[in-house]
Amino acid sequence: MAAARPARTLWGMSSLTWTDTLALGQPRMDDTHREFVDLVASLEASLGGPAPATDSALEQLLAHTVEHFAQEERWMAAIGFSPENCHAFQHAHVLQVLREVTRLHREEGDLALVRQLVGELSKWFPVHAQAMDAALVEVMAERGFDAETGRIAVPVAADAAPITGCGGASCS
Ligand SMILES: [Fe+2]
Ligand SMILES: [Fe+2]
Repeated sequence: MAAARPARTLWGMSSLTWTDTLALGQPRMDDTHREFVDLVASLEASLGGPAPATDSALEQLLAHTVEHFAQEERWMAAIGFSPENCHAFQHAHVLQVLREVTRLHREEGDLALVRQLVGELSKWFPVHAQAMDAALVEVMAERGFDAETGRIAVPVAADAAPITGCGGASCS
């Protein structure tokens, strides 16, 4: 008989929960971020249940994160970021880890790694949102970029250097 899987989160609290400090004032991005927070919480809640539920929670989080990051990278491309920029590099790194943990849980049932992933994502996400995503929102606002229509009020000058940092003061 398989060993019992450890009980779910202490006191039923999620490691990552939505707070107003995570809202960046870009409705589409904020909705996506709320969904991300919910999916990490669902993943964490699945840890006390059967392994296939955790596999499914990992797959859902992975699929959502692929689109979450792609959406931000489409916006970056539209407003003059270089394809090689530190925000996109960080996305690529997180996706690589998420893919690897999803594979290892499916193939080897590595639960400790999933717990570690939840802990790391819960620390990483608020920092990423408040630094890199907030900087992206700032540049979108400066350019008058409308995420719904793709229109830009202040077009990128043809001779402007592409943005290779994250666009914020903390990263040039
Ligand atoms: Fe984001
Ligand atoms: Fe981001």
